[in-house]
Amino acid sequence: MNKNLTSNDLSHVIAADKARVWHHLTQHKPFESIDPRVMVEGKGMRLWDALGKEFLDGVSGGVWTVNVGYGRESIADAVRDQLVKLNYFAGSAGSIPGALFAQSLIEKMPGMSRVYYANSGSEANEKVFKMVRQIGHRVHGGRKTKILYRERDYHGTTITALAACGQPQRAQQYGPFTPGFIEVPHCLEYRAQWDVEDYGRRAADAIEEVILREGPDEIGLLCLEPVTAGGGVITPPEGYWQRVQEICAKYDIMLHIDEVVCGVGRTGEWFGYQNYGVKPDFVTMAKGVASGYAAISCTVTTEAVFEMFKDDSDPLGYFRDISTFGGCTSGPVAALENLRIIEDENLLDNTNRMGARMMENLHALMERHAVIGDVRGKGLFCGAELVADRASKEPADEKRVAAVVADCMAQGVIIGMTNRSLPGFNNTLCFSPALIATPDDIDAITTAVDGALGRVFG
Ligand SMILES: Cc1ncc(COP(=O)(O)O)c(C=O)c1O
Repeated sequence: MNKNLTSNDLSHVIAADKARVWHHLTQHKPFESIDPRVMVEGKGMRLWDALGKEFLDGVSGGVWTVNVGYGRESIADAVRDQLVKLNYFAGSAGSIPGALFAQSLIEKMPGMSRVYYANSGSEANEKVFKMVRQIGHRVHGGRKTKILYRERDYHGTTITALAACGQPQRAQQYGPFTPGFIEVPHCLEYRAQWDVEDYGRRAADAIEEVILREGPDEIGLLCLEPVTAGGGVITPPEGYWQRVQEICAKYDIMLHIDEVVCGVGRTGEWFGYQNYGVKPDFVTMAKGVASGYAAISCTVTTEAVFEMFKDDSDPLGYFRDISTFGGCTSGPVAALENLRIIEDENLLDNTNRMGARMMENLHALMERHAVIGDVRGKGLFCGAELVADRASKEPADEKRVAAVVADCMAQGVIIGMTNRSLPGFNNTLCFSPALIATPDDIDAITTAVDGALGRVFG
C-alpha cells in the first residue's frame, strides 16, 4: 500500500497545506522552517504520511477516536449506500439509520431512553447545559440553573463548554465565559489534596461542600468525565462514584456523564460509567461513536428528562434546539456498522485483555525508569505520569515529556501527552490504541516508549 505513496509526489499537497491550512491546537511558527505532517492513508492500526513514512498509531487518530481502526470498507460501503439513498433531511423528521442506531444504542444503556443527534462532543455537552437551564426555568421557577464541573475535566471547545473547563490552559484568553458554571475539586489520588484513608469518599465529599456553599437550590447539574482524559488519564478512586451518586440524589442534582472519550468501548465496557455502577440522567458521546468515519454526537437522556419537555400547553414547552448536520444520515449509519464490528469482533473483550497487557508493560517500564511516577488506566485508555523526582512528585519538565512523544514519532509510533491543559502538569503520556490492537502492537508501543525514556531522561 505505501509503495504507491512513496512513488506519488505529494509535495504540492504539503505546500498547499503549509500555505493555507490552520491546524488544530498547533503553534505554526515552526512551519516557517519545517513542513507540516500530512496524513494520507490508514489500515488497521497503521498510518502513512505524505512522505510515505509508516506509523503505528497508539492514540486512535491522535485523540481517542478511531476505535475500530482505519480502512474499514464495511463502514465506507454502508455510508455510501445510505448517501445515495438519502443523505440528509433535518432532524425534525426521523431517518432509518437514526432510528435504528438509537434503538441499538439504548439497548446498551439500561436506564437511558432518548437520543438527540448533533455533530461534536462540545455540541452534545451544550445540549445538556441548555436542557438543564430550560428545566430550571420551567420546573424550578428559574432556580437550579447552575452547573458543576470538575477541575482537570474538559467538555469541549465552544465558549460555554470552556465555561465548564477544568483545564485552565484551554480556557485562558478566551473569556468572558457563560456565567453559572462552578468548579469542584479533582479526584486524582496521586496528587491528593487530603491526607485521608478513604480518598474516594473524601474527594466526592468535596463536591458536597461546593453544593452547600453555592446553595443546593441553585444547582441543577453535575457534569463529570467517567475517567478524565486530557486532564491526565484520571481513573476514579475507590468509592468515589458511589458517593457522587448519593450526593446527587440527596440534593436533587442531575448527573451528566461526558463519555466523549470513554464512550463505545474505550474502557472495556460500552460506557465508562458502566464500570462504576453509575445511574446518569444525561450521557454524551462523540469520538468513538462512528470511529471518525462520519461526524456524529449523541446526547442521551432518561425518559424522565424527556418527559419534562412535553408540555404542549406552552408554545415554548419543548426543546427548541436544532443542529443542522445532526440530520446527516452518514453519522448514524456509520455508527450502526461501528457497533456491529465491536460486537462481532468481540472488541470489548480484546480491549480488556490488551488494556491489561498495556498496564502490565507500563508497570514494567516503571521499574526501569524512575521518571514514571504513576501509571493509570481502564481498558485501552492508559496514562503514565512523568516526574522529575518520585519522592517529591515534582512534575517532569513539559519539554522533555514532549521530547519523549517526538522520539516515539521518529521511531514510527504515535503516542500522546496532556497538552496545554494544566500549568505545570502537562506531564502525562497518553496511550489509547484502537480496540483491535494485538499483543504485538501493545508491546511495540511500550518498547518505543522504553527507548524514548532512556534517550530523553537517561
Ligand atoms: C471529554 C471530552 N468531552 C468533550 C470533548 C469535545 O469534543 P469535540 O472536540 O468533538 O467537540 C472532548 C474532546 O477532546 C473531550 O475529551
